[in-house]
Amino acid sequence: MKLGLFLLAAGHHAGGWRHPQAESGTENIDLIVRAAQAAERAKFDMVFLGDRLLTTPDSHPSMITRPDPMTVLSALAMVTNRIGLAGTASTTYSEPFNLARTLASVDLISRGRAAWNIVTTFADGSINFSRDRHPDHALRYEIAEEFVQVVEGLWRSWDPDPYVRDKQAGVYIDTAKMHALHHKGRFYDVAGPLNVTPSPQGRPVLIQAGSSGPGQALAARHAEVVFTAQQDLSAAQAFYTGLKAQVRAEGRRADQCLVMPGLMPIVGRTEKQARAKLAELQAFTDQSNALAILSEQLDSDVTGLPLDGPLPELPPVPGAHSRRDLLLRSAREQGLTLRELYHLVASARGHQIVVGTAEQIARHMVRWVEQGAADGFNIMPAYFPGGLDEFNAEVVPLLQAWGHARTEYEGTTLRQHLGLDLPAPRRSAARAPQEIEAHV
Ligand SMILES: Cc1cc2nc3c(=O)[nH]c(=O)nc-3n(C[C@H](O)[C@H](O)[C@H](O)COP(=O)(O)O)c2cc1C
Repeated sequence: MKLGLFLLAAGHHAGGWRHPQAESGTENIDLIVRAAQAAERAKFDMVFLGDRLLTTPDSHPSMITRPDPMTVLSALAMVTNRIGLAGTASTTYSEPFNLARTLASVDLISRGRAAWNIVTTFADGSINFSRDRHPDHALRYEIAEEFVQVVEGLWRSWDPDPYVRDKQAGVYIDTAKMHALHHKGRFYDVAGPLNVTPSPQGRPVLIQAGSSGPGQALAARHAEVVFTAQQDLSAAQAFYTGLKAQVRAEGRRADQCLVMPGLMPIVGRTEKQARAKLAELQAFTDQSNALAILSEQLDSDVTGLPLDGPLPELPPVPGAHSRRDLLLRSAREQGLTLRELYHLVASARGHQIVVGTAEQIARHMVRWVEQGAADGFNIMPAYFPGGLDEFNAEVVPLLQAWGHARTEYEGTTLRQHLGLDLPAPRRSAARAPQEIEAHV
């Protein structure tokens, strides 16, 4: 079972920072370092930092301020040794060359532990990027496809071991191992080559976190890990089976694209105590903040609607993202009121919340893996560091004892932890003429 720590330092629960055992917050680099190191001691595959490119006064407390993930990951690279380091970066609001370079640098600094969570950015990032408007959902994914192809191409700029360092002959690097890209496409014009050479894992691991049709298609072609929000076993099984079929249809092995739903564990000595813990957290939720978070996730303003009646029909949003569909489906299937729905979203933003004893939580996780709903989980502690410490102290040892989680790292790179292949070597026999020109 793969394990990721989804690290939101002021807690995943919107009221988590108010928990007596919570430490503040996203500005607290010591807390972030301790959490990453704790996840490494528990032998997690990776730690993941999400991102957003705007902030508002009513944002989730873990998102109202947020240091740049790649910068934080390079700091974490120096204070951890084995754990993978994953971060979000947007294909809508970055340039492929800059991002390929930043990620390759984090991969080099961490000696092969970096991963990129490819997102197209669902919140309107345009306000901070001198653009007239946020591209619509379909266009964002068309841009993303070409963007990822360019980044992958740039990461193939160098064959392994190009450094000659022959002091006598005066040869520093073998430029025959350097390959330009000469990409000219619909959105991007990038010559290459990249000026960063590959890490021991060849290139960063690619993660994709959009669950819509176009999101899944992008994942099937490129992603090695898929993050997703799933509420129940049967929907998660359908998502898992469907995605793996698309991966095979792209000519890839299904085990080279790992599905990791988010999971918020609420651990108690008894189930009753765990339920009381969740209720305690819910009492910390600020109603207007929760409604603002829900409005963003639903792409519709729900403030001012009656809280205790059934959720009214919301006007359709063209090209809406998959989280909206998930939340509306859950609300309809479970007959949730607006108040219940905002609590669900303030707690874990539509990801599943598993409440119970350590054994119940561990059994739930094993069931999802054994029944074809997940290859592992992105663990989302409600608050830090206590929520993580409890999971590590009580749930991880059970998973280890049952043979579902490692007790020691076998390898040094993230690819090795996840059982992912090294990227295929470039087909030098099929080199385009312009690439050969670029050698001289
Ligand atoms: C575990 C997880 C993490 C995500 N992290 C981010 C993130 O950090 N930034 C972001 O803009 N979107 C994030 N997303 C949202 C998706 O990437 C995507 O933008 C959104 O769901 C809309 O695309 P879709 O309709 O294809 O799902 C995340 C989704 C999941 C499931």
